[in-house]
Amino acid sequence: MIITSGRPERVVSGMRPTGRLHLGHYHGVLKNWVNLQHEYECFFFVADWHALTTHYEEPNVISENIQDMVIDWLAAGIDPGSTTLFIQSRVPEHAELSLLLSMFMPLGRLERVPSFKDQQEKLRERDLATLGFLGYPLLQAADILIYRAGLVPVGEDQVPHIELTREVARRFNHLYGREPGFEEKAEVAIVKMGKKSAKMYRSLRTAFTEQGDHEALARAHALLDDQKNLTLGDKERLFGYLEGGGRVILVEPEARLTAASKVPGLDGQKMSKSYNNTIKLRDDPERLEKTLRAMPTDPARVRRTDPGEPGKCPVWQFHLIYSNEEVRNWVEEGCTTAGIGCLDCKGPLIDALLKEQNTLRKRAEPYVNDPGLVRNIISDGCERAREVAEETMREVRENMGLDWN
Ligand code: TRP
Ligand code: SF4
Repeated sequence: MIITSGRPERVVSGMRPTGRLHLGHYHGVLKNWVNLQHEYECFFFVADWHALTTHYEEPNVISENIQDMVIDWLAAGIDPGSTTLFIQSRVPEHAELSLLLSMFMPLGRLERVPSFKDQQEKLRERDLATLGFLGYPLLQAADILIYRAGLVPVGEDQVPHIELTREVARRFNHLYGREPGFEEKAEVAIVKMGKKSAKMYRSLRTAFTEQGDHEALARAHALLDDQKNLTLGDKERLFGYLEGGGRVILVEPEARLTAASKVPGLDGQKMSKSYNNTIKLRDDPERLEKTLRAMPTDPARVRRTDPGEPGKCPVWQFHLIYSNEEVRNWVEEGCTTAGIGCLDCKGPLIDALLKEQNTLRKRAEPYVNDPGLVRNIISDGCERAREVAEETMREVRENMGLDWN
């Protein structure tokens, strides 16, 4: 069982601006983000530095995609009122933290992160034997740790990066969270909570350390989060004291897996830019309709009179997402008996997709018409992100001997 010091009320995630977003992103990542923003304090950012690690020869790709990416997020229903949206490179503290973490980051550990070799193989046309690319997961760790996030929504491929982030946090706390007189200081801090909370803290701590009661650990975290009279330093001590060793300066996050999107590409393979089979988030309606009409179906249906099998048809995958049971029954019956043609079958889908796109386009419209709105959202977001990041950095600098004045 992994012991976490995470206080899962803060969520952080980033997306690389390397192309326009498509329905795969929408039904996978973005809907997940939209749901999370109601439950947690969310920080979502454009990972432009991460994009540069692979696209350093194509800066235009990055600058062209940032604005549209944020508009796509807003179109998907991200609420800029409750969620902090920002651009990584506008919060330079991420780079500072990444540099500081690099001081104790073993080179061999980074070389063994699976994506390092995998991506080099996959993107052979790019030279990825660079310091920037090797440091990709460490920069990602900094992105997360700087907000002391508890939860990081990511796809399966990113899980090794979150594991590395956890290791970095543990190592940091081990190196810099130890202090002389730790236990005494923790005991003094307990008293500062007041009688009732102090008693509660002690009994929850005992329940965890003696019986391994993880529920008690979680309750103790919540108790600490609610304390108004404790300094940050004391809180870190008491988080650390629950589990042993030293202060918890950087928090170990957990991955929250994003379920893979079920939207197939237009050719039935996974929807992906590299297969050229995507439907963009705010596509032109006429183009969309034309594309859907031309979309391949069960190859057995050569003539209108040939029956088919929905299971062998990418169009059916779309029905599973967009159509109700009645329509689906109509498709199954009509397809297997050649009672309907493929164009008939696509009719309700074209309607549903146009409707969805219309909603997305409507939500995006004010931002498309007035880019100043997006700029304001981003600039507020960067300011808010920097406040939180700066607070962590003050601690980090101090603990790493950089608090000279
Ligand atoms: N590496 C992530 C991806 O390719 C993007 C990313 C950068 C990220 N920094 C992050 C995701 C921090 C979560 C948290 O998808
Ligand atoms: Fe596919 Fe529908 Fe044609 Fe059947 S009728 S092959 S499900 S498009």
